[in-house]
Amino acid sequence: MGPKRRHRIRKAILQWYGTCGRELPWRKTKNPYRVLVSEIMLQQTQVHRVLQKYPQFLRRFPDFPSLAHGRRSNVILAWRGMGYNNRAVRLHLLARQVVEKHHGRLPSSYEELIQLPGIGRCTANALLSLGGRNAAAVVDINVRRVFSRVPFAMDTTADLIPEKVAWTIAEELVPRGNAYTWNQALMDLGATICTKSAPKCGDCPVAKFCSSRKHMRPIRVRLSRSEPSYGGIPNRIHRGKIVEELRRLNGKGGITRETLGKRVLTKYTSHNEKWLKGILAGLEKDGLVKALGKNGERISLA
Ligand code: ADE
Repeated sequence: MGPKRRHRIRKAILQWYGTCGRELPWRKTKNPYRVLVSEIMLQQTQVHRVLQKYPQFLRRFPDFPSLAHGRRSNVILAWRGMGYNNRAVRLHLLARQVVEKHHGRLPSSYEELIQLPGIGRCTANALLSLGGRNAAAVVDINVRRVFSRVPFAMDTTADLIPEKVAWTIAEELVPRGNAYTWNQALMDLGATICTKSAPKCGDCPVAKFCSSRKHMRPIRVRLSRSEPSYGGIPNRIHRGKIVEELRRLNGKGGITRETLGKRVLTKYTSHNEKWLKGILAGLEKDGLVKALGKNGERISLA
């Protein structure tokens, strides 16, 4: 892409964002803790859900020290409704590391950020771009869709360029000094206009630069993710249900494995015990649950 085209694309997207961008609470702050919490939540949870949970979480844990000194089980409780509970454990560990190793401040280099639990390339760069000086690019699934369709002629709405290629384009386009706004604009464009199966090309600020607009066919694909399941339900869902049952106990000393089994499987019998033990061992390893009592006969949140 030549410099002139790059400039026009940037300008069109930033202008569009100025009038059509979403007003989201984490965009009104430059507080690294608050932005970090939002980015971790947004990694795997949709914006409308995060909008509900984000203020509640921040009221409970308003800064790094309160989170670092909070009990693990209370952090998992505050994560209720978000799914992918491992993120709560990692965020808690991260806050502890920030307090213990970085004097309570989020580090400002990519190398240090990427070492922290739960932070990958995208989240590290989103945080770096907050500072304003770093030309740090962000590629999530929304951005990858935009960078697939605008520069390349995609046959169908299901087609995507490899993630590596999307990163190369993102780094080529990100404007120095305005990376944060640019990244937010791209995410909004992908989330609201350049959507997965029904893009609104008529409203798109870069329609005239788009190589896919004319010929891309809409198709619905249901990606059947191959993931470990039990009784036709992914173990990921069972894990979530177990953590939710333990949340409901609200610190009341845990419950037996059998009771827990009966709450998560409609027809729990001794045949299911081996499977449940395996799931609980995984949750314990991830720091989400712990076994209580002399023989570990009761289970509670970690
Ligand atoms: N997804 C990841 N980060 C985001 C942000 N800051 N705003 C909206 N969606 C996002």
